[in-house]
Amino acid sequence: MAASFSSKRSLPCLLLLAIFLHGRCSSATPRRIAAGDVADTDGAMMVERFRRWKAEYNRSYAAAEEERRRFQVYARNVRYIEATNTAAAAGGLTYELGETAYTDLTNEEFMAMYTAPPPVRPDADDDATTIITTLAGPVEEPRAYVNLSAGAPASVDWRASGAVTEVKDQGRCGSCWAFSTVAVVEGIQKIRKGKLVSLSEQELVDCDTLDSGCDGGVSYRALQWITSNGGIATRDDYPYTGKADTPCDSANLAHHAATIAGFRRVATRSEASLANAVAGQPVAVSIEAGGDNFQHYKKGVYNGPCGTQLNHGVTVVGYGQEPAAAGGDRYWIVKNSWGKGWGDDGYIRMKKDVAGKPEGLCGIAIRPSYPLM
Ligand SMILES: *[C@@H]1O[C@H](CO)[C@@H](O)[C@H](O)[C@H]1NC(C)=O
Ligand SMILES: *[C@@H]1O[C@H](CO)[C@@H](O)[C@H](O)[C@H]1NC(C)=O
Repeated sequence: MAASFSSKRSLPCLLLLAIFLHGRCSSATPRRIAAGDVADTDGAMMVERFRRWKAEYNRSYAAAEEERRRFQVYARNVRYIEATNTAAAAGGLTYELGETAYTDLTNEEFMAMYTAPPPVRPDADDDATTIITTLAGPVEEPRAYVNLSAGAPASVDWRASGAVTEVKDQGRCGSCWAFSTVAVVEGIQKIRKGKLVSLSEQELVDCDTLDSGCDGGVSYRALQWITSNGGIATRDDYPYTGKADTPCDSANLAHHAATIAGFRRVATRSEASLANAVAGQPVAVSIEAGGDNFQHYKKGVYNGPCGTQLNHGVTVVGYGQEPAAAGGDRYWIVKNSWGKGWGDDGYIRMKKDVAGKPEGLCGIAIRPSYPLM
């Protein structure tokens, strides 16, 4: 149901954009937003709603043309959100969409700004057979964590143990991988040493030569880099700028606010192993984050649509299950790095144990990893 909304919507969306870009964009005298910019009787209400949204998210636009264009996108997104939620209320979806900090972006813009494109060739080592080979391989190869025990607690939430820092904001830099890496090191440090210290994503963006800064990366490689560097600095010492081309501040390379003893990759395509790993500590995962529903997610247990073209790194900080009266869905608690203005205060709950999908929803069980301390 959600997927058909999405595809029905994309055509008018593109058309509107095309009309705007090729028609009004070239107009010499930009007009201000008027109710007539939305072709229905709700126009005035939509203008007012946009005004309130801009105030809430501190949004302003340099040019009137840009403001008009953003208003068109916003209005279209609001209609999509409401139509989807109406379908949800009729029993179609287990989650709701809503306005977020990103309601004035088209999905194409959103994807381009906040996800990293999937690699041309999927990582060969995501393949289960490679993991098995690795298990039998040379001792210096990190072993995959396989644990199919049914002994994990029914629910885990590392936020309740104070092992999760505030939701951060990667900005317009494909550094999601650095945020999920830092989050899992912050988590294990709190669990093992009792102190929660916010660590430096920018050090990874600038200095981690195994990854690609704002152009993307993978958490297990970043964990490997932290291991060989001997540690990672605090966020206060090496603050986040979200800029791609700043040289590595080598003076900070020796400031080790946290050190790790290596890392483990969780056996790929095993939600049971992932749950047992999460029972021990927060775990970094990759997902496909895309599509309108992911962009506008607000609350509830997300169950797609999404595929497995991994383009975003996030952190699983727990899991749980809805009460039977609310459908009984099991879910992962996922910390994102798109600020608190996205999703459920920066989090998303994603459906866990999807039947017939060992890779997990949006590929969440394909590439999990965690640090050792
Ligand atoms: C908006 O700006 C004000 C003042 O600069 C600030 O206090 C507030 O936290 C901002 N809100 C958001 C959502 O960024
Ligand atoms: C496997 O998972 C169970 C349940 O979470 C846990 O008690 C046990 O310690 C795990 N075993 C290993 C080897 O990690």
